[in-house]
Amino acid sequence: MREVYLDNSATTRPLPEVVEAMVKTLQDNYGNPSSLHNKGLEAEKILKEARQKIARRLAASPEEIIFTSGGTESNNLAIKGIAYQYQNRGRHLITTEVEHPSVLESFLALEEEGFEVTFLKADRYGRISLEDLRESITPETILVSIMHVNNELGTIHPLADIGKIIKERNPNTFFHSDCIQSFGKMLIQPARNLVDLVSISGHKIHGPKGIGALYKRKGVELRALQTGGGQENGYRCGTENVPGIAGLIPALDALPDYTEQNPCNQELDRLRKYFIKGLEKIDRKVIINSPEDGAPHILSVSFPGTRGEVLVHSLEAKGVFVSTGSACHSKSREKSHVLRSIGLPMEQIDGTIRVSFSTYNTIEELDYALEVLAEQLEIFF
Ligand SMILES: Cc1ncc(COP(=O)(O)O)c(C=O)c1O
Repeated sequence: MREVYLDNSATTRPLPEVVEAMVKTLQDNYGNPSSLHNKGLEAEKILKEARQKIARRLAASPEEIIFTSGGTESNNLAIKGIAYQYQNRGRHLITTEVEHPSVLESFLALEEEGFEVTFLKADRYGRISLEDLRESITPETILVSIMHVNNELGTIHPLADIGKIIKERNPNTFFHSDCIQSFGKMLIQPARNLVDLVSISGHKIHGPKGIGALYKRKGVELRALQTGGGQENGYRCGTENVPGIAGLIPALDALPDYTEQNPCNQELDRLRKYFIKGLEKIDRKVIINSPEDGAPHILSVSFPGTRGEVLVHSLEAKGVFVSTGSACHSKSREKSHVLRSIGLPMEQIDGTIRVSFSTYNTIEELDYALEVLAEQLEIFF
């Protein structure tokens, strides 16, 4: 059966060269990067190359990149690492209601430990108010964590404006951003935008699962969450996932270069716009939840009166893969905290699917998905 994968925000298919690099590393370059002999040096070279490539994409220096096991760990390390390290300066933290659970749960855990956390509200499109942010920052605030692109809606937060507000209000407040959905799809310039910490993940860019990184600006300290052999300058101990890191290299190489003149992936934007046009031709009520100026690869769409889970499975039966709300919710009965937080009515939330694109999708695939979607809506609802 034909397979059209449109769940690229949940994860992406690894590129053939990613798989090849991983297999080669497992078979040949299996040394421990901490070993002194040649096998160790070979592995260390892989780490060095990947670190440089990530740094280049973030206009950072390689010493500012810490390898982790993925986005979840990067978020935990940034948030808890800053909170524990700087708790003597203040115990107030700020985040938003629409973050990924790896961020929200980190803050909830800190709240239980006695930190005070402000959860900023978002509007109908998942945007926080910059005025609310400004007013929330106090001399006690040690960290603000705001995601770049929302994984359920595609909403983009203006990192440069946020960074400026934070540092104006309190130059000692650190700014962390979960850039897991934006990395590889748009320009990210942490130093320029006054972002101190940035989380990224390998499997959202056609790389391997179980590998990610945290950018930590030089001079920012972190309390390590796991101690051990001193790897990653002591910030993340444990023998590095060398095959995963090797797989990151071709995934990074395949990404387009973004500049201020070309800050966003045009190809993805074209696919998303094409899909929206196709949805408009479907003869029933369709509500686009994503903002028009959102990320180019994420589209949240509701068909009131339908059930997202039923739709996901009926599309799957025809080889089309999408998700309900977000991946982390698709197996849970709980309604998406993001869609609830932006105030969507229950009927709309129930009938929501998320379609997310990759530059490897084709217009022909989208035509097929739209045809199947129209057909399944007719049959089931
Ligand atoms: C915005 C966001 N943050 C964090 C994560 C978690 O990343 P990982 O799966 O690499 O742990 C995801 C993955 O869905 C995400 O979309």
